[in-house]
Amino acid sequence: MKKIIITLDGYSSCGKSTLARQLANELNYVFIDSGAMYRAITLYFLRQHVDWRHEKEVHKALGEITLDFQYNDQSGQSDMFLNDENVEALIRDMLVSEHVSEVAALKEVREFAVAQQQQMGVKKGIVMDGRDIGTTVFPKAELKIFVTADPAIRVERRFKELYAKNPSITVEEVKANLEMRDYIDSNREFSPLRRAEDAVELDNTNLTRDEQLAIALQWAKEKIAG
Ligand code: DC
Repeated sequence: MKKIIITLDGYSSCGKSTLARQLANELNYVFIDSGAMYRAITLYFLRQHVDWRHEKEVHKALGEITLDFQYNDQSGQSDMFLNDENVEALIRDMLVSEHVSEVAALKEVREFAVAQQQQMGVKKGIVMDGRDIGTTVFPKAELKIFVTADPAIRVERRFKELYAKNPSITVEEVKANLEMRDYIDSNREFSPLRRAEDAVELDNTNLTRDEQLAIALQWAKEKIAG
């Protein structure tokens, strides 16, 4: 059967990764969370005290980084590995969330990540979520989905997710972080978050996970058949 590339872009915490993972499972495709790569790079920069305002430091640090996704038998999902260390849990930390948009706005960081993402799609059969996947990484993807959800719902979902791991977190902190990231992600100079002209929009504010999956799956099947 024909294999296609499916891209999911949208603001922070609108359920892109969940949908992308479910779609990939249903279609037996590879799922790639591109945000995890920017998060792993940010973690490395923070740990090594890289001053990312200086191009030379960024260049040197990127040369020291190897990123890859490895399948985890227990969770049934792929985990992000940074230089052979499983950093899947660490990269979801608030400290990384606070800096990741700044790091992801750097031209050299984007070139580093985008080249690897494009390589992962060479054989197609991939579902990738992020901010610029339909516009920059795979501008020729067969199916592009732009996911949206009401901002209050996004804060609530993200808060629940973070609170489970860290009960001292507040709704205000989560809201401020989402607003800040949405602003930087949409206004940066290099491949800002945009809806690709040929993307279909999926507003999941009032949809259950199963309902949004059914809609996206239908779109994917139509593209695969056509
Ligand atoms: O999807 P996420 O929240 O884990 O992404 C983390 C950050 O990485 C997000 O604030 C913006 C950046 N990002 C990006 O610039 N381009 C992508 N394709 C994916 C994520």
